[in-house]
Amino acid sequence: MKFLHRMQAVCLILLTVISVSAQRITLKPEVEEKIDKLLSQMTLEEKLGQMTQFSGANSMNETMIREGKVGSLLNIRDAKEANRLQRIAVNESRLGIPLIFGNDVIHGYRTIYPIPLACAASWDTALVRQAAKIAGEEARAEGTHWTFAPMVDIARDPRWGRIAEGAGEDPFLGSAMAKSFVTGFQGKTLTGQSSVLACAKHFVGYGAAEGGRDYNTTDMSERTLREIYLPPFKSAVYAGAGSLMSAFNDLSGIPASANRFTLTDVLKNEWQFNGFVVSDWNSIGELVAHGIASNATEAGVAALKAGVDMDMEGRAYSDGLATLIRQGKVPESLPKIRDAVRRILRMKYELGLFDQPFTDEILAKSVILSPENLNIARSLAAESFVLLKNDRDLLPLAKNIKTLAVIGALADNQDALLGTWECEGKAADVVTILQGIRSAVGKTTKVLYDPETSGLVVNENRSGFASAVAAAKNADAVVLVLGESRDMSGEAASRAVLNLPGVQEELAKEIIAVGKPVVVVLIAGRSLTIPWLVENAQAILMGWAPGIQGGNAIADVLFGDVNPGGKLPVTFPRSVGQIPIYYNHKNTGRPANAFYKFSSKYIDEKSTPLFSFGFGLSYTTFRYSGLKVIADRLTSNDTLKVRVNLMNSGKRKGAEVAQLYIRDLIASVTRPVKELKGFQRVVLQPGEEKMLEFSIPITEIGFYDSMMKYVIEPGKFEVMVGGNSDELVSTDFEVIQSEEK
Ligand code: NOJ
Repeated sequence: MKFLHRMQAVCLILLTVISVSAQRITLKPEVEEKIDKLLSQMTLEEKLGQMTQFSGANSMNETMIREGKVGSLLNIRDAKEANRLQRIAVNESRLGIPLIFGNDVIHGYRTIYPIPLACAASWDTALVRQAAKIAGEEARAEGTHWTFAPMVDIARDPRWGRIAEGAGEDPFLGSAMAKSFVTGFQGKTLTGQSSVLACAKHFVGYGAAEGGRDYNTTDMSERTLREIYLPPFKSAVYAGAGSLMSAFNDLSGIPASANRFTLTDVLKNEWQFNGFVVSDWNSIGELVAHGIASNATEAGVAALKAGVDMDMEGRAYSDGLATLIRQGKVPESLPKIRDAVRRILRMKYELGLFDQPFTDEILAKSVILSPENLNIARSLAAESFVLLKNDRDLLPLAKNIKTLAVIGALADNQDALLGTWECEGKAADVVTILQGIRSAVGKTTKVLYDPETSGLVVNENRSGFASAVAAAKNADAVVLVLGESRDMSGEAASRAVLNLPGVQEELAKEIIAVGKPVVVVLIAGRSLTIPWLVENAQAILMGWAPGIQGGNAIADVLFGDVNPGGKLPVTFPRSVGQIPIYYNHKNTGRPANAFYKFSSKYIDEKSTPLFSFGFGLSYTTFRYSGLKVIADRLTSNDTLKVRVNLMNSGKRKGAEVAQLYIRDLIASVTRPVKELKGFQRVVLQPGEEKMLEFSIPITEIGFYDSMMKYVIEPGKFEVMVGGNSDELVSTDFEVIQSEEK
C-alpha cells in the first residue's frame, strides 16, 4: 500500500546542484586581463612549458627553465634551492613567469601528524583544519607553494594500501574532511608566506581498484561514481581547492587521465571549476600502456582534449605536441592549450607569485617544529585513536602502576609511527610509544622493555618470545604493541592478507596466556582482520600511524589524561573474504539472515563486520534519548531538524561523535540501508546532558535516478542517531510535494 501510494504520488523534484556552501575559486577580471596579455606574448613552446612539471632539478636542465619550458617543479624542499631555481625563471626566462613548486605534504611537512585515515577517525573537522594549516605554513616556509593533498578517494577495500591516505569509506565524512584539509592548507588567502595551494586527488575512482591492487582497473556505474566517489571532490572544489590531480586508473573503460566526461563535463562544466588539473606522475604517458594511445604524443593529445592541464614528470606535452599542432593534425588543441595555461597562470596569480616569487629563507626556523605545531600533532593523534575494546575497564592504567611490561617490535619503533608519505618528517623526531610511556609514568613505576623481545614485524623470528613472556610474568600489566611497519601501507603497498604480519599473533597468544592484563596498541595504515585478538585481548586501542608525537599521545590515552573518542572511518572485516564490506550497502532482495540459507551471506563466515563504521568506545558512556524530528512532513525546500538528547552517563569527561543516518525507505532506484548525513563531536562532563540539533537540507538527501538526474522523491524516510552505524535510535519523517503542505 505504502509503495503504491508513493508511486502514485511520484512527482520528481529535479535539482541540478546539491547545495554546498560555495567558496570556489572565482575569476578576477584584472587577473584575467593580465593573463590575456601574457598569453598573447607566449610562443607555443612556452605555453606547453607552463603545462609541464618535472621532478627535482635532475629531471630537466636549467636551460629548460631559462627557455620557458618548465612551469613547475616537484620534490624541491629547500627554500634556498627553490629561490635559486626561481631566480632563473623570473630573471632569466623571456617572460619571467615564476615556477610553482609542488610537494606531497600529506600529513604534515616536518611536524608529521597522524595519517589522513587517522585524522578522519578524529571526526574533528576544526582540528584537522588546524593541522593542515600548520603543514601549509611549514611547507611554504621552505619554498613549497602547492601540496598534492588531500587525497579524497573513497576506499571500501582495506587491501588497498592507499586507504591510509584518505578519509575512509564514507562520502559524507570524506567530504567533510576534504573541506577541512582544503581550507586548512589554503588558509584565508593564498598570497603571503603561510598557505599552500591544495590539490584534491586522485580524480577519480582510484580507490575502487579491483582486488585492492594499486593502479588497477575500476569499473562502476555512473550512479556509484556520482553518489560515492565524486562527492569529496565536489566538496574540495566548493571549498576552493585550486587544483585536482587526474588518477592513474582506468575508469569504466576510459582512463581517468583521458576522461573527458569526468574532467571536462563534470569538473570544469558542471562544477565550474576554475583551477587546473595536473596529471599523476606520468599518468599521461601511461595511456600508452592502457592501450588507448600508441605513443606519448598521442597520449598527450588524449589527455589535453580530456582536460588535463599539466603533465607531471612526463614529456607528453613538451615533446612532439608542438610539431603535431604545427602540422595542423590536432586543430582543436590550441584553445585547449590556451585554457590550460590560463588556469595554471590563474593559480600562480592567486598564490601571489608574480609579486613575490621568492621564499623568505629565515622564516622556516621559527615555523618548523614549533611547540604549537607539536601540540596540534599530539592532540590530533590522541583524538584519532579508537578504543576497540576495554573489558572490565582495564584502561586507563594507573600512572603509579608498579611494573609495566612494554612488548612488541613496534613499541620502540620510530619509523612505523611516521606512516606513509613522511615528506620532510624525520624518524629521529618521533617519540616512540616506549618513550611516551616512560615519560608519563611515575618515578616508582618500573618499565620492563627488552629490545630483543619480539623480532621484526614481518619475519618469523621467535627469538625474543621467551624474554617477552618472562617480562609479562614479572609485570602487573602489559602494553603489547602490534601492527604494520611503515612500508605496509601507502602507495604500491596493497596486501592480500590483512592479519597481523609475521609472528605477532603468536606472540600475542603467548603473552595473553600468561594471564596478566594486556592492552594491545595497534599500529597500522588500514583496518586489519584480527578476530582472535578481538576475542582474547582485554583491551585494544587502534593507534593508526600517529605521527611524530604518537608515543606521547598514546601515553596520554593509556593513562587517562585524554579520554579516547575516535570513531572508525572504515569498517573492520573479520576476514579478507568479506571485502568489500561497508556500512552503506544496499539491502538486496535477500538480506543476510543467519537463520535462512537462501539469503545473501557466506556459509563459512559471519555477515557482520568485526567492527562497524563509526564504532569507538570511551572511558565513559553516553546515552541517547528523546530523538525527534521537529517537523515530520517536509518539502524539498525545507530543512530537516532533528533533536536528540545526549548524556554522559559515566564517570569521566569525554568526547562523543553523534552520527546521524537516513534511509530512504522506498524509491525508484534502490537506496543504501543507511547513509551518514550529519555528525557532531561533543565534549561532555560526567552527568552532563546536551540537546543536539541536526539541520539537514532536504536537498541533501536525494539521489540520482534512472536518468542520472539528481532528484528528491516524496515518501517516507527513517532517521537514525547514535554513537556508531550499528547502535542507533530511530524515528521517521516524510518528504512531500510542495503543494501537499
Ligand atoms: C604518485 C602518487 O600517486 C601521487 O599521489 C603523488 O602526488 C605523486 N606520485 C607525486 O609524488
